[in-house]
Parts: sequence; structure tokens; C-alpha cells
Amino acid sequence: MLRAVNLHAGYRSGVPVLHGIDLDVGAGAALGVIGRNGAGKTCLAQTLTGALRAIDGSVLLGGDDVTAKDSRARVRARLSHVPEGRMIFADLSVQENLEVAAYGAGVKLGAAELRAVQERFPILERKAHDRAGSLSGGEQQWLAIGRALVQQPRAIVLDEPSLGLSPVAIDGLAEALVGIRQTGVALILMEQNPYLLKAVCDEVLLLDQGRVTRSLDGEAGEQLVAEAYFGG
Ligand SMILES: Nc1ncnc2c1ncn2[C@@H]1O[C@H](COP(=O)(O)OP(=O)(O)OP(=O)(O)O)[C@@H](O)[C@H]1O
Ligand SMILES: [Mg+2]
Repeated sequence: MLRAVNLHAGYRSGVPVLHGIDLDVGAGAALGVIGRNGAGKTCLAQTLTGALRAIDGSVLLGGDDVTAKDSRARVRARLSHVPEGRMIFADLSVQENLEVAAYGAGVKLGAAELRAVQERFPILERKAHDRAGSLSGGEQQWLAIGRALVQQPRAIVLDEPSLGLSPVAIDGLAEALVGIRQTGVALILMEQNPYLLKAVCDEVLLLDQGRVTRSLDGEAGEQLVAEAYFGG
């Protein structure tokens, strides 16, 4: 569903961060990417979703080459991004945040569509009219994922969704992501939390200085951390 072929990218021209990334995640599958700080996870998330332009290589969504499309066009092609740091609109209400996200994807947010997201994350109903900035960190993460879900994505790229969450909230996050997978959405999860990767992903890529150095079974949680942080 979402593929990258020989992807090279960086934040500034002339300073490449990614040096030829290949990945492929099918509908209903989940691929993890683990790497220490500065490995290039966010650069990869942004290049997949179109916030950054690739220097070379391509991004394919459902077989269509979307490399030349900007982030807005990719959202409309059903590729959603849950960015690092959540990036919700703090001064809008929870429901307004969902409405803006759906609008950006060119999707109608009717009562049934709203209901579906609220059933997955009941807090988004209970606090529908609260200011989004008043939510706790965990609640804001549900909202960030809810924003992606109302866009009716075929694939979602999530950038460190566990950051700042309590262990209990991470359990809830794992459960929610597994549930989303089961609806047929493809997930790419940039993470440093091995428990979450193990709970959600079939396969995990080790990203080191902008290169994939290893691919491991998601079950190999402890090994992932050892290899990511201590080189094996
Ligand atoms: N806005 C930016 N402009 C220029 N260089 C950047 C920018 N953000 C990050 N970098 C550099 O790009 C490289 C990759 O960083 P990136 O943030 O993509 O990694 P990351 O794996 O997401 O790290 P983290 O775990 O800290 O979020 C690092 O060398 C970093 O210093
Ligand atoms: Mg990052």
C-alpha cells in the first residue's frame, strides 16, 4: 500500500539525511522503524507524507507514484500523517480539530464518520467541545490519531506517538493501533519504544544515520533495542 524506493531526502538542500531507503507496507500490515535520536525517523515520516521533497527515489501509494505530490495532495490520496509532537490546533475545540483534518483531506465528516472515531476514542466525544490545548498529553495523542482517522486513510505514518505517554497510555495506544490495522489500514510507526513496536508491528527496520541497517521480526523486541542503541 505504501512503498518507498531508494529514497534520498534531507531538511536542507545539499545536506542529505536519508541515503536510499526502501520499504513496503501492505494494507492491514504494520511496519516499525526504530532508530536513536537523529537517525532520520522524522525526515523519513515527512518525506513519505510530502512535508519534505525527496532528492531522489520515489514514494508510491497503492501503486501510484505520489513523489511529485505535496502533502495536501497526498492526504487527499488517503495518506495521513500523525506528526511528531502531535501538532493539533490548541485553540480549536476537539471537534473542530477533527473537522479541519477531514476538510483538509476533502472528506465529509458526517455524524456517522464522527461517531466511528469517537467510538474508538471515547474521550473525543466526552471532550468534543473542550479546547484541544486543555487535553492531557495522552488525550492529545488520541486526538492526533483521530485527526488522521477522519481522513479515511489507506495508510498512516505515525512519528513517535508514544512520546510523553504513561505506560498505561502506551498500552491503550498499542491496542488502538492494532484495532486500526485490523480495519485494513497500512501503518508505519516511527518509534523508540520497543514494547509498542513489538505489540503492533510485524516487521521493524533499524534506521541508523539515514540507512536501514537491519530488518527484524517485530517479536524481537529486546534485540531491536540492543541493535538500535548498542549495535547488537
Ligand atoms: N529542521 C531541521 N533542519 C536541518 N536539520 C535537521 C532538522 N531537524 C533535524 N535535523 C537533522 O537531521 C538529522 C535527522 O534528524 P531527525 O529529526 O529526522 O531524526 P529522528 O530520528 O526523528 O530523531 P528524534 O528521535 O530526535 O526525533 C539529524 O542529524 C538532525 O540533527
Ligand atoms: Mg523525530
